[in-house]
Amino acid sequence: METLILKDDQIQRAADFLADGQLVAFPTETVYGLGADATRSEVVKNVYAAKGRPSDNPLIVHVDSPEMVWQYADNCYKEQASKLMDQFWPGPLTIIMPIQAGTLSKQVTGGLSTAAFRMPNNQATLDLIKTFGKPIVGPSANTSGKPSPTEAKHVYHDLKGKIAAILDDGPTVIGVESTVIDLSADTPTILRPGMITEEELTDVLGDVASDHHKVSQEEIPKAPGMKYKHYAPNAQVIIVDDPNDFAEAIKEYAQASEPIGILATDLILNELSGNYKTYSLGEDVISASKHLFAGLRALDDQNVPYILAQGFPESGHGVAYGNRLNKSAGQQHFKKQGEK
Ligand code: TXA
Ligand code: MG
Repeated sequence: METLILKDDQIQRAADFLADGQLVAFPTETVYGLGADATRSEVVKNVYAAKGRPSDNPLIVHVDSPEMVWQYADNCYKEQASKLMDQFWPGPLTIIMPIQAGTLSKQVTGGLSTAAFRMPNNQATLDLIKTFGKPIVGPSANTSGKPSPTEAKHVYHDLKGKIAAILDDGPTVIGVESTVIDLSADTPTILRPGMITEEELTDVLGDVASDHHKVSQEEIPKAPGMKYKHYAPNAQVIIVDDPNDFAEAIKEYAQASEPIGILATDLILNELSGNYKTYSLGEDVISASKHLFAGLRALDDQNVPYILAQGFPESGHGVAYGNRLNKSAGQQHFKKQGEK
C-alpha cells in the first residue's frame, strides 16, 4: 500500500479514506495519532495490527466537540466532565468515563466498561472529525514501544506501507501525550501525566489522586498502556539529573570507537567540546518535552550506543517529561563515583 502525505487542504480526501475503512494518521497538539473509524470494530482491529500493539490496551476516542462524547458516554459524570471540558478542551486532556452499554466495541475499550475521550487542539484534525462525522480512535502513530511521533516523517518511518495516509500539519506543539484522568474512580485519578498538571486539575475538581508513579510490569495498572515497554530507542538512555554531572557522565560512557548521543539544553550543549552527536532540548522543561521524542529518534538514526539525556525536577510540567524519559531509559540514572 502506498502511504500518501496529505496537507490541510485535503481534509475531504482524508475523511474519504476513513469512511472507506482505511487508517489515516492525524496531527494533534501532543503527538500524531493513528486514526480509524471508532464505530467499526473490524477497522479498529487494523490499528492494533499496524502498530503491533497488544490488544488489551484500550484506545482514545477523539471527538470534535463535547456533544459527540455524550452520544457514547454515560452522563453519570457529566457535571465534573463538563467542568473539565469547559476549562481544557480543545486541549491535551483525556477523560475516562463509563460508556452507554453497547455503544463502543471491545476493540476500542479493551473490554472495559469505560472509554477515554479527547478533543484535540488541532484545527486540521477537528475539521477531519467534523467532515467524517464520527469519532476516530487514535493511539500514538508509532510502532508499539518506540517514541511517539511528533512529526509526519516519524509516522512515515514507522508505518509507511501499512496505512493509507498521513495528514501532515508540521511538528506538534507539546510533544508529550495528553494527561489521562479517570473520572470513574472513587477520587478522580490521573493515570498518565501530561501538560495539564495535577495542580490545574485539582483547581477545577477539588480532590485529585495520581496513579502513575509505581506502575511496574507485575501490577495490573489502571491504564493498561502504562505496563508496556515504552518510548524506547535502540540506544541505552541514561538520565543525567544534575546538569553539573554531564562532564563526568560523558567520561564514563564515551566510547573510543563511536560517538555517544547527548540530549540536553543549549546551556549544556554550548559547554561541550568533543566528538558527540547532540540534539537540543531548547531551554527549559517545556521545550524539552516538545523535543524529547524527536531527539531520541534523531540520535537513534545516528546509531549511537548511549544517549545521555538531561533530567528535570519532577514537579509541575516536569512530571510528564520525567515519566516519559524514565520509561525510555528503563529508569536508569547516572550516579557519580561514590554515589553508586
Ligand atoms: O496525546 C494523546 O493522548 C495521543 C494523541 C494521538 O491523542 N494519544 C495517545 O494514545 O497517547 P495512546 O493509545 O498511545 O494512549 C492512551 C492511554 C493508554 O495508556 C491506555 O491504556 C489508556 O490511555 N486508556 C485508554 N482507554 C482507557 C480506559 N478506558 N481505561 C483506562 N485507561 C485507558
Ligand atoms: Mg502511545
